[in-house]
Amino acid sequence: MSGRVLITGASSGIGRQLALDYRCAGWQVWGCGRDEGRLQALADAGITPLQFDARDSAAMARVAAGLPVLDLVILNAGNCEYMDVAEGFDGALFARVIETNLIATGHALAAFLPRLAPGSRLAIVSSSVSWLPLPRAEAYGASKAGLDYLADTLRLDLATRGIGVSLIRPGFVSTPLTAKNDFPMPCLVTVEEASRAIMSGLAAGRHQIHFPRRFIWLLRLFGALPTGLWLRLGRTLTSKGSPS
Ligand SMILES: NC(=O)c1ccc[n+]([C@@H]2O[C@H](COP(=O)([O-])OP(=O)(O)OC[C@H]3O[C@@H](n4cnc5c(N)ncnc54)[C@H](OP(=O)(O)O)[C@@H]3O)[C@@H](O)[C@H]2O)c1
Repeated sequence: MSGRVLITGASSGIGRQLALDYRCAGWQVWGCGRDEGRLQALADAGITPLQFDARDSAAMARVAAGLPVLDLVILNAGNCEYMDVAEGFDGALFARVIETNLIATGHALAAFLPRLAPGSRLAIVSSSVSWLPLPRAEAYGASKAGLDYLADTLRLDLATRGIGVSLIRPGFVSTPLTAKNDFPMPCLVTVEEASRAIMSGLAAGRHQIHFPRRFIWLLRLFGALPTGLWLRLGRTLTSKGSPS
């Protein structure tokens, strides 16, 4: 199957690999980002680059107005900043992360949903972090939990328009975003593995796509524990840990 796909956050990491792999599979690909050099590299690979800051709703609306009808939109752009609450709750950091990961997704929906026709699919990239409260993830985890609810609600409301919605929740993937992490990342996968899991899940029309399986089962298991038990166990297991 091939068609027309728009991917946000396509200039790096998971989004970049998805853009290359969809192009390779014969799709017409629009790849979004901010970094000019990395967008040029996408263009060299046959991907149409779209440059805008995802927090700028007007810029996104302008870009969307020039697009044809799409078969797939993958809202993947995002950032992660950890908070050291022991030094005080950083309200500015919280606002930054929520704005990039959650509010900007709202702007993207306003701009790009009108480009999706019946039979098409919307995918939102959240994270496995929302299965389990993890240290220093107050801002990142809250933004991704918001995306989970957003995707689950949109699935109900867009079904009447014949648009499918997939929620993507990766574990740790080796990208520039996780390269900054100063803690062990269990079950880390490559961007190629992540892209394969996402593309096959989307092709199968899955509502939920999460990987790698072993890591997700662990998170689910810990997530099902009583809060008091996770509080004790979590402190030991993640004494320097943080989320994906
Ligand atoms: N890597 C993981 O382990 C992991 C795990 C779970 C979920 N995720 C999620 O997967 C998504 C991609 O992550 P990644 O690891 O591939 O990160 P990455 O390599 O840092 O790529 C992030 C992408 O988002 C774009 N972006 C960030 N802020 C933007 C903004 N304000 N406006 C426009 N574009 C913006 C970046 O574009 P520019 O660089 O051009 O600005 C870049 O293309 C994120 O939503 C992340 O939360 C990642």
